[in-house]
Amino acid sequence: MTQPTLLITGANRGIGLEFVRQYAEAGWQVIACCRWPDDAKALHAIADGTDDQVEIHPLDVSDFAEIDALALLLQGRQIDLLINNAGVYPHGDFGGTDYEAWAEAFHINTMAPMKMAEAFAGHVASSGLKKIVTLSSKMGRLDDNTSGGSYIYRSTKTAVNMVMKSLAIDLKPMGIAVAALHPGWVQTEMGGPNALIDTQQSVAGLRQVIEQLTLENSGRFVAYDGKVIPW
Ligand SMILES: NC(=O)c1ccc[n+]([C@@H]2O[C@H](COP(=O)([O-])OP(=O)(O)OC[C@H]3O[C@@H](n4cnc5c(N)ncnc54)[C@H](OP(=O)(O)O)[C@@H]3O)[C@@H](O)[C@H]2O)c1
Repeated sequence: MTQPTLLITGANRGIGLEFVRQYAEAGWQVIACCRWPDDAKALHAIADGTDDQVEIHPLDVSDFAEIDALALLLQGRQIDLLINNAGVYPHGDFGGTDYEAWAEAFHINTMAPMKMAEAFAGHVASSGLKKIVTLSSKMGRLDDNTSGGSYIYRSTKTAVNMVMKSLAIDLKPMGIAVAALHPGWVQTEMGGPNALIDTQQSVAGLRQVIEQLTLENSGRFVAYDGKVIPW
């Protein structure tokens, strides 16, 4: 039986890198994308330890022409699972908003997952599993916001949740199941050293959530521990 194929963005560190490690270990074919492959030492180390299961492609998700070029390069390839993992968290409090950083974050966190879905829906629809997920965050929840601040990160994640909800509806006729995922508070460069869980635990949980994703439960916001999160 042919092994399923994963395409993932932001695969060089953090949660993305751990997704590559675990799916490759599980025998999947992994198309690992990152901005600067030459600098992606940890990713190359994982790739070198596998039997040609991990291929590395340059991809800056804010460069939509580069997304189109990759989709063309991979034309005819079945992609069972697309994980939009790349993300940024620009800081800034009230009174010091960096609007350029906000626009860039919207590009990366919100528009890029949409662009990836548009570019790769055909590859995913031609596969066996047919799934698209995006790493969102509980920080995008409206009724969970009791501390204010984080305008840029919060708003780009709230917006990508809406993107995923619409995609779930629009891609259903193609047989593609869609979810927004919360990885927990994870020890990465973004999550910081005080985060509650490590990447191994987060990704192990997220893989189970992805395994349980079906057309019937498509269009939900789910945490790494399987709990469905209110929008
Ligand atoms: N860690 C947490 O606690 C937490 C909680 C909730 C949600 N999340 C979400 O989970 C995802 C992964 O987070 P993480 O904790 O692993 O973050 P991280 O350690 O900061 O890694 C972010 C990844 O995104 C990549 N990236 C950023 N901008 C990019 C671009 N324009 N094109 C391609 N790749 C780009 C980075 O690549 P470079 O190395 O090239 O910068 C890096 O691989 C993000 O979407 C984040 O919002 C994380």
